[in-house]
Amino acid sequence: MDRGQAALPARAPELDGARLSHLFYDGAVIHSRAHRCLITLATLAFAAGCQGTAVRPGPAPGDLPQWELDNPVRPLPRPPLGLDVELASAKVRVTPEKVRLGRWLFFDSRLSRDGTVSCATCHQPEFAFSEPTPRSKGVGGQEGTRKAPPIVNVAFPLYQHYFWDGRAGSLAEQAKGPIANPIEMANTPEGAVRTAVTIAGYRRAFREVYGDDRLDIDRIADAIAAYEATRLSGDSAYDRHAAGDEEALSPEAREGHDIFFGRGRCNACHLGPNLTDSRFHNVGIGFEPKPRDLVGHGFDDPGRYAVTHEPADIGAFKTPTLRDVSKHAPYMHDGSSPDLRDAVLRYVRIEANPWLDPAMQEVRVSPFDVAPLVAFLRSLDGTGYEDVPPRSFPQ
Ligand code: HEC
Ligand code: HEC
Repeated sequence: MDRGQAALPARAPELDGARLSHLFYDGAVIHSRAHRCLITLATLAFAAGCQGTAVRPGPAPGDLPQWELDNPVRPLPRPPLGLDVELASAKVRVTPEKVRLGRWLFFDSRLSRDGTVSCATCHQPEFAFSEPTPRSKGVGGQEGTRKAPPIVNVAFPLYQHYFWDGRAGSLAEQAKGPIANPIEMANTPEGAVRTAVTIAGYRRAFREVYGDDRLDIDRIADAIAAYEATRLSGDSAYDRHAAGDEEALSPEAREGHDIFFGRGRCNACHLGPNLTDSRFHNVGIGFEPKPRDLVGHGFDDPGRYAVTHEPADIGAFKTPTLRDVSKHAPYMHDGSSPDLRDAVLRYVRIEANPWLDPAMQEVRVSPFDVAPLVAFLRSLDGTGYEDVPPRSFPQ
């Protein structure tokens, strides 16, 4: 089949950034009557219509399978206001075809050992690709020990550190982790590849993206990373304020803004376009002073220390992005703050411990600052990253 021709009809038309983001959220965008006809045909799984061809389960030459119609190749999104990045500058090469493939893989639970868990089980679009639970449950309901971080603007960190402890150095490397993690997707790289290889629709999609028949875990991870790279968030009230819109922030949020960047010194760590330095700090979360500090360091989860074995990294975790933070309570690496108010209060009553980051000494916030800071944090809700699961998957 001529791939070039086959891909074209499913391509969405060029649109401006605003409408484009809608394209991403509402699933298939079908324009011509011919396409609608094809969709109906495929839905009924019977092809004696439009083109007068014989009944056929797979794609016929010249037409497209349902899963391609449901998830067409779309133009790459333009970065929203406040996000001064180029997709071309991401560490992973991002192309429209690869993003389409990665979108399927991200939402496809067949990649897990028992076919029940996908990346989106724990990274749900409506919670800024995080989830509303303190700890994640994977295959068989097994519980992990950390909160799932959001996936917005993840391809554009100041430093390439992934996971709360930074143990992965790139998005693609990161994506291989959960597939093989015994608690998360509980598969093996070979198992995931074996599944994808048996699906003709995936073989076709990988060929379209990479130009040959090789299908391995690196390509699976690469395609997922490309999809993740397109989850861009910006154009929040905060971004509009920064761009000069005087009305963008409420008076309370503006007060919070000034505390955040002023005496609160929140921006010692929450800095840059994503309000994170992507470095590691002990801010006192997860410290149990008694009685274990007599024998150990007092952190159930030692954080960055497990990677570096530097005592200075005990209890240190990666500064999380604050973009879209209101969307994914509970907070902190262990999900121990049920809401934003509580998360901010952790800076009013700082849990002192021997490894507390020195920058925490500078943080000066009182209970009166909590409401304005929460209002400011809510102003970081952006748009551009939203999505819904594809309606069908390669067969
Ligand atoms: C069972 C739940 C679960 C599943 C399934 C899962 N994740 Fe995660 N994800 C997590 C948790 C929990 C963390 C934090 C783990 C840590 O830091 O040790 C995480 C971390 C991440 C991060 C790091 C974000 C950052 O800012 O450092 C990315 C990116 C990510 N996951 C992408 C994926 C992808 C891609 C898949 C599918 C291949 C996936 N996840 C599957 C729960 C899950
Ligand atoms: C010394 C660096 C540092 C400073 C200063 C700092 N933070 Fe944080 N922030 C972090 C780290 C690291 C975490 C994650 C902590 C953990 O889970 O162990 C975090 C977590 C958060 C969270 C939870 C986000 C989530 O997704 O779970 C919020 C909200 C937050 N900080 C707001 C603030 C505010 C408001 C201030 C100023 C009053 C501030 N931070 C000052 C480093 C810092």
